[in-house]
Amino acid sequence: MSGQPRLIAVRTLMDVLPGDGHGRSLREALAHHRQPLEPAERGLLTDLCFGVCRHYRLLDHWLDQQLQKPLKASARQVRLALLCGLYELWFTERAAHAVVNAYPDLCRTLKAPWAAGLANAVLRKATRLDLATWRATLPVPIRCSLPDWLWQQWQQDWGEAATTLAEASLNEPPMTLRVNRQHQDRDAALASLAAAGIAANPGTRAPFAITLAHAVPVQHLPGFDQGTLSVQDEAAQLPAELIEAPPTGRLLDACAAPGGKTGQLAERFPEASLLALDNDAHRLQRVRENLTRLGLHADVQQGDASDPTPWWDGTPFDAILLDAPCSATGILRRQPDVKWHRRAADLPALVGLQARMLDALWPLIRPGGLLVYATCSLLDQENAAQISAFLARHGDAQDDTPPDTGDVPVTAGAQLLSGTGQHDGFYIARLRKH
Ligand SMILES: C[S@@+](CC[C@H](N)C(=O)[O-])C[C@H]1O[C@@H](n2cnc3c(N)ncnc32)[C@H](O)[C@@H]1O
Repeated sequence: MSGQPRLIAVRTLMDVLPGDGHGRSLREALAHHRQPLEPAERGLLTDLCFGVCRHYRLLDHWLDQQLQKPLKASARQVRLALLCGLYELWFTERAAHAVVNAYPDLCRTLKAPWAAGLANAVLRKATRLDLATWRATLPVPIRCSLPDWLWQQWQQDWGEAATTLAEASLNEPPMTLRVNRQHQDRDAALASLAAAGIAANPGTRAPFAITLAHAVPVQHLPGFDQGTLSVQDEAAQLPAELIEAPPTGRLLDACAAPGGKTGQLAERFPEASLLALDNDAHRLQRVRENLTRLGLHADVQQGDASDPTPWWDGTPFDAILLDAPCSATGILRRQPDVKWHRRAADLPALVGLQARMLDALWPLIRPGGLLVYATCSLLDQENAAQISAFLARHGDAQDDTPPDTGDVPVTAGAQLLSGTGQHDGFYIARLRKH
């Protein structure tokens, strides 16, 4: 291997992790630093970037303890290279001697030959650490690499279950599929996956979910290009399943991009009039691509869900799905960089936007109709507290969330906690209008 993936990993992480970088999302940064790499090299690059984001605080903490004097801010690339090396040694199966040898060379490539000896010494010492024993001595937010504000908020919201959430946030998520019911039922999809040599099990919560034993590239999924299957977490499949409407009814997917749930609504209600709205024109293109692959239709429109006047034609909807922008604290397994981007100070603006969207969309629903509110958040203020406040403001709204949807009692709607199953952390409330 050329060493190139480790170099690109350092440059990518420079853009993502706190410091003087751009604060880019990991996916954006990986796309920005895209270079021709062999599949194995690309796999290493992705693993290093996700792994260092996942375990950042733990790795950084140990490194700080080893350094006799702190690394200068200008040596940030060296620091990130060392964190990559620690991640490889502690969390991957790669041979320790190969890892230890790779990083002094990387320091030289980074024009920091002075750090080659340091890399060698630090990584050699790391190979001798009893990781499990040392980790057990650490406070949860360091052991589980969480920012303090999030750990404190989880403790406040979930009490003892916060530790389970923190530990589960480090896991690699399973690859979960949604079967396109317009093409086949779940048993037929399981049979075609088995015939392709892909081990899979039916989901336990969502009726068209299938969880794979091991992730595979989507191109290996039978019929993926023809729209037979989509990739979607099992909890994320529940909100659209809770929509009830006449087959030819009017549906709004109010925050639609990139279109995971739009596609699901189109699969469930192929004859409905479905409007997919989002305020991000670039992301709306993904909704169109998804619908094209599925062979299904929706009207796709750019607009602000908190201000319907410019885009609403005045005809009420039978049901609205509001998959609101949120802290994304329920999907840290999939987007570990969120931990280092999100701040406690971001929350009031997000909670305010969610409340404005709920209030603005509610009048668009016919009497007897539904609004399903969803977030991939594990923060009560975006979830049950948000919906309890909404119910207090709107006397014609009733919590109609099916019992047993959630994992833990909450004041309104249903909270799914990551760590209680294979699914992401998610919140769902079905609200019916009198
Ligand atoms: C959680 S994502 C939606 C995911 C999508 N429902 C899916 O299943 O693929 C939230 C979306 O809200 C959009 N958004 C943020 N503010 C908005 C606004 N004021 N009006 C409409 N959409 C907005 C974002 O662009 C983002 O695409």
